[in-house]
Amino acid sequence: MSETALPEENVIVLDFGAQYGQLIARRVRDLGVFSSIVACDAPAEEIAAMKPSALILSGGPASVYAEDAPSVDPKVFELGVPVLGFCYGQQIMATTLGGEVGHTEKGEYGAAPLSRRGESRLLTGTPEEQTVWMSHRDAVSRVPEGFVVTSVTDTCPVASMECAEKMLFATQFHPEVRHTEHGSDMLKNFLFDICGLSATWSMENLVDSMVASICKTVGDDRVILALSGGVDSSVVGALLSRAIGKQLTCVFINHGLLRKNEPEEVERVFTEQFDVDFVHVHAEERYAELLDGVVEPEQKRRIIGTQFWKEFFTVAQKTGGVKYLAQGTIYPDIIESGARKTGGKASTIKSHHNLIPFPEGVHFDLIEPLDHFFKDEIRALGTALGLPDRIVHRQPFPGPGLAIRIIGAVSPEKLEILKNADAIVREELDAYNARLFEETGERNSEHSCWQYFAVLPDIKSVGVMGDERTYARPVILRAVESSDAMTADWAKLPYDVLARVSGRIVAEVPGVNRVAYDITSKPPATIEWE
Ligand code: XMP
Repeated sequence: MSETALPEENVIVLDFGAQYGQLIARRVRDLGVFSSIVACDAPAEEIAAMKPSALILSGGPASVYAEDAPSVDPKVFELGVPVLGFCYGQQIMATTLGGEVGHTEKGEYGAAPLSRRGESRLLTGTPEEQTVWMSHRDAVSRVPEGFVVTSVTDTCPVASMECAEKMLFATQFHPEVRHTEHGSDMLKNFLFDICGLSATWSMENLVDSMVASICKTVGDDRVILALSGGVDSSVVGALLSRAIGKQLTCVFINHGLLRKNEPEEVERVFTEQFDVDFVHVHAEERYAELLDGVVEPEQKRRIIGTQFWKEFFTVAQKTGGVKYLAQGTIYPDIIESGARKTGGKASTIKSHHNLIPFPEGVHFDLIEPLDHFFKDEIRALGTALGLPDRIVHRQPFPGPGLAIRIIGAVSPEKLEILKNADAIVREELDAYNARLFEETGERNSEHSCWQYFAVLPDIKSVGVMGDERTYARPVILRAVESSDAMTADWAKLPYDVLARVSGRIVAEVPGVNRVAYDITSKPPATIEWE
């Protein structure tokens, strides 16, 4: 939420580079309290300025004794807000406040039986014996003054500790992970009994506060919106058009790497839906020239992202008076692009097009109202804003478009093949999803596809068609089940659906003689091939 105010009740997760960091924020939001993530080493004054209702210190991969172990500003424990630490968060709380952490001989990974000790505000209402999820080697060996031990496991003498008087609580285990049987009860104890919060946050009441804060930020200035027609930028468009109406210009860059019929569809749907200025920029030739012969995926992403900024800047200069560029950056984009704003320790998986640095001579102030949200939350926000289902439930499509689904250099011939094959994949799997929706009444039911598309590898193979030898391209079908793109399973599609997709592609798309199905999940693969 770069330019939008935080709701009055908000819990800040200090990120120590945990694989569970986002999950904690997510669990808190699911319980009806807004939560966002901030770098672990943010100064206490900066954190105080965000007026948090509570802090949660996440886990992390480091040892507190490692040379460059992430640390926390000790003053965060004096802000007068309740603090809860998990795993590394417990250890850093202990060492910062005068306790000790020791290396244990044997780590503890997975489910572990926990026994409670004495009274505990955090564990109130949970059984004396219960199962928790552990993932650690170091452990607290001596609690700081004023703290009591509230549970143990066979290998962990301080599985949880608290100093109720100072409102400081911590667990060595991970309450945010579903395998911790009563983790959700503990989070509820913390949020509602200890912090006195009221579970009033929801997507619906968020809309009003986001609109108000966009109005306040923008004032009388003009904003251009980087509109791709996907759910994220459309939701930002809906928010902005509600907030600032005619001060908004929606800019759609046609880079020639869009799916079949997509540019026309985006323009029609968006201009029907909203009474805003819409600019369609035909940049196909410029992109074709820039991408000529480029093979390496990160280089493609950089070229495409940089040119996007230049195109927007040109429109802004023509429009005049534009201070802001709004875009639909979402939380996973930031995580996978190297955690620009969480400041976390995540590494760069791929540079999302909207997080490429500005080239020289280009500058905008950014408005990214969705940068703390996951895809399924954004869909709920879109529905709360009254966007039609056909926009809200569009499958994700990456900004760099088909350029990152054509392995190797992009060419007009490859683009034509991929557009045609992809159109068949979407037609068949849209129909498959629609059948499942009819049967189950659920949009993301078990086995429905979340994202599906065709990929064109840079190889050819031999086939036989009509008694003739062919030497032509294979197409790869990618279809995954997911809810937020952070993890994904390959879709267990029925054989008859696979057979129809394969049969149609080979029969209807010239230049293709084979179809393969990608049966890899994320991780270890990613959803896109580049
Ligand atoms: P990966 O391939 O990293 O993708 O598993 C996760 C989700 O993000 C989409 N994606 C992008 N979206 N700009 C975007 O707007 C990008 O540069 C980009 N790269 C990947 C991808 O389609 C999937 O839904």
